[in-house]
Amino acid sequence: MTTVPPLTSPLPGSGTSAASPLPPSAVAGALRRGAELEREIAAAPDRFRVVTGDRPTGPLHLGHYFGTLHNRVRLQDLGVEVFVLIPDYQALTDRDVVDRLAGTMEGLLLDYLAIGIDPSRSTIFNHSAVPALNQLLLPFLSLVSVAELGRNPTVKDEIAHSRQASVSGLMYTYPVHQAADILFCKGNLVPVGQDQLPHLELTRTIARRFGERYAPVFPQPDALLSAAPLLLGTDGGKMSKSRGNAIALGATADETARLIKGAKTDADRNVSYDPESRPAVSNLVLLAALCRDLDPHDIAEEIGGGGAAMLKRTVTEAVNTRLAPIRARRAEYARDMGYVRSVLRAGNARANEIAERTLEEVREAMGTLR
Ligand code: TRP
Repeated sequence: MTTVPPLTSPLPGSGTSAASPLPPSAVAGALRRGAELEREIAAAPDRFRVVTGDRPTGPLHLGHYFGTLHNRVRLQDLGVEVFVLIPDYQALTDRDVVDRLAGTMEGLLLDYLAIGIDPSRSTIFNHSAVPALNQLLLPFLSLVSVAELGRNPTVKDEIAHSRQASVSGLMYTYPVHQAADILFCKGNLVPVGQDQLPHLELTRTIARRFGERYAPVFPQPDALLSAAPLLLGTDGGKMSKSRGNAIALGATADETARLIKGAKTDADRNVSYDPESRPAVSNLVLLAALCRDLDPHDIAEEIGGGGAAMLKRTVTEAVNTRLAPIRARRAEYARDMGYVRSVLRAGNARANEIAERTLEEVREAMGTLR
């Protein structure tokens, strides 16, 4: 419930696209705000409520892990209340049906538990199980113009890359739905990548306009930008499951080794960290560095003239070592899917309770009868 300057972004995010809608001049302000927020969080974690989520379109991978998952657990462990949403309705923005939805959602639950999301402190829930959240979409839609929806740069980018023959109404309106995701529980802190900033700005606008038109029910949430540098796929392109260049958290050590073995490198035997001129090699160096909590330059120096083979050995070992405990926990939870499903049921019960309370406040503010 803090007031903030306009949202800005220094880094590409881990979300669905790499749209870059904001001027670079705004970067310094965003970084300052991020540092300020971190100080506020450390001083009073209980003043914050985090909302984050991952579209259930495939398994979570290392890009998600270093981009956002890791940070959620950090915030949770600092004492911030964390809501993790599986936005199953939002998965329908750029596809007609979500393939194997139940299996994908179970995979996400396993990933969350394996990385350390603690269901006794954090709430995991999904869109379609929380009716009162979805109902907020209607009053919220009345607070935004069609022109505003059409201007959203992330939506425009997603339409350009959509696999659908025509663009659905959901594609234009999902950022408003996302405002409901955040505001139903009065979330005030949203860890995001750059592509999500236009959505956050819209959420703030909706919260403000609702207050102006009716009553100040909602906070204007802050974006917390990911500080992690962008991790590319093993082919040097955007990391994505559909491109076959992503290392899933749940992959085996052998699958991981195979993927890294096939990774793109270059002809220079001397390994260096220079993302501008050597993106593929530098990305592998960065991956090892993130896994070992080291500076990428130190990793490059360690490998020196060892060439691509040694680089790949180093990366494979770093990834498999980092993921080993996560994978072991994941396998353990997978043996008890009854428990895993009960985590979602309990999260949904809590989300419903909160959403119904908020909807009651909204009804009151709007003066509707029941
Ligand atoms: N749009 C987000 C993404 O594609 C997912 C998401 C849905 C989300 N609802 C949210 C993220 C609410 C944060 C808060 O990555």
